[in-house]
Formats: sequence, C-alpha cells, structure tokens
Amino acid sequence: MTSGAGGLVVTIDGPAGCGKSSVAQQLARRLGWQVLDTGAMYRAAALLALRSGIEPSDGAAVAAVIRRSRIDFDWRADPPVILLDGEPVEEAIRSVEASAAASAVAARPEVRAILVESQRRIASAMPRLVSEGRDQGSVVFPDALVRFFLDAPVEERAHRRLLQLEQAGERVDELALRRAIRERDEHDRARAVAPLVRPPGAVVVDTGGTTLEQVVDRLEREVRDALRRVGAEGTAGTPRR
Ligand code: DC
Repeated sequence: MTSGAGGLVVTIDGPAGCGKSSVAQQLARRLGWQVLDTGAMYRAAALLALRSGIEPSDGAAVAAVIRRSRIDFDWRADPPVILLDGEPVEEAIRSVEASAAASAVAARPEVRAILVESQRRIASAMPRLVSEGRDQGSVVFPDALVRFFLDAPVEERAHRRLLQLEQAGERVDELALRRAIRERDEHDRARAVAPLVRPPGAVVVDTGGTTLEQVVDRLEREVRDALRRVGAEGTAGTPRR
C-alpha cells in the first residue's frame, strides 16, 4: 500500500529552516491536497507546557497535559491554522522561547506517541495529504507514496529563519540564530526517539541556491510521476493556486 490508512500521503522531512513548510504548502496547493504541519503540533505542545508551568523535558507531565487538551487545526484556513483548545496560537508557537521548548518536548517518547497517533488519525480522515516534519517518512508514514528529504546549508537556513522572525516583528542576531539552529539540529539528530534521518528510499532535495518555485516544481513532478506509476493520476484534487 502506498498511503496512510485514509488515502494517499506524501511526506516532507528535513531540518529547521530548509523551507519545508513553504514547500509543503505550495505543493499541496498545486495538487489540491491538504497539508499537515507536524512541527506546529510539537510547538503547540511546548506552548501548553510553558503556559501550564511544566518543565518541557518532563515527558510524562507534558503528555498528561496534552491528553487533557486539544491540539488540532482549523482545516478551512489555507494553510490550516493550529488551534490549542480552540484558540488560534500560530503566532505564539513561533517565538524563540516556544521553539526551544518544542525541541525539548519533541525529544520525549511519551509526547511523540500521542502526537504520532494524532497525525495518523488526521491522515486517515483525509483523502490526500502532504505531511511535513522530521519523522513523517521514517516513522509515521513509512509507506507514503513519495517521501522527500529537504536539506540546505545552515547559513542559508539561519538567514531564512531570520527573515521569518523579522516579519513576525522579532529582532534576533543572525549569528546567535545560526548557533541556535546548529544546536537544534544536533538535538533533533542525536535524540534517541525518531531522530532526524534521511530515510532510505527518500527523494533527497537540496534547497540551497534554488528558488521556492524550482523546488516545488521538482516535488510536483515526482508526485505526479508516482501517481501515474500507481495508476492514481486522475485522483489529484483541484489545484488551489
Ligand atoms: O519544524 P518546526 O521547527 O516547526 O518544528 C518544531 C520542533 O519540533 C523542532 O524541534 C523539531 C520538532 N519536530 C519533530 O521532532 N518531529 C516532527 N515531525 C516535527 C517537528
């Protein structure tokens, strides 16, 4: 089978700042598929821990508070908006503090177990899904139609993050950001559960020195080829350009 339990799934994994979210959103729009930002779920769990006064690295306590809360999305929005107990928290989860806490909660197996289950449940309810994160192709949807791994040099990733944070009104030092991204990479790659890896069989795409459009073109071609191979080419949805 080439999908999650529901329908067809395409996964996009890669380190922070490699352009995954923008690529996933654009690809989903072109295909007319839904898109899942799993990093937003870990960030929402981190925000929940911070707001509840729980140490983000205390996996059992964070898992307990997640179970009492609701982390989901408003799927009518494009891209879908992350909700914490019904409250849109898109801005709050992107702060530097929430980013650091997200890396800590994402290292806890108790937390991952809950969010991985939610991700599979979401996929089973969607006919077509582009799912983006760190472990989507390696752990959550190993049978996905196509599994992509995006990468780019750390300098370029730090610069992209800087522009995003500036747009959100945050001022940060680029060198400090580079250091933080390197540390977060290390943490995500070295952790015991679901480390960031290039899964065997993944299509590896270097996003350094290319435009967003060029990357999305390449991914769209790969997905349409794969749809043809499995005889599902007529099933892509209506593009939302
Ligand atoms: O992609 P992002 O920066 O929004 O992710 C936030 C944090 O969550 C980051 O530390 C990596 C982690 N993460 C993860 O461990 N697994 C995922 N599927 C998605 C994100």
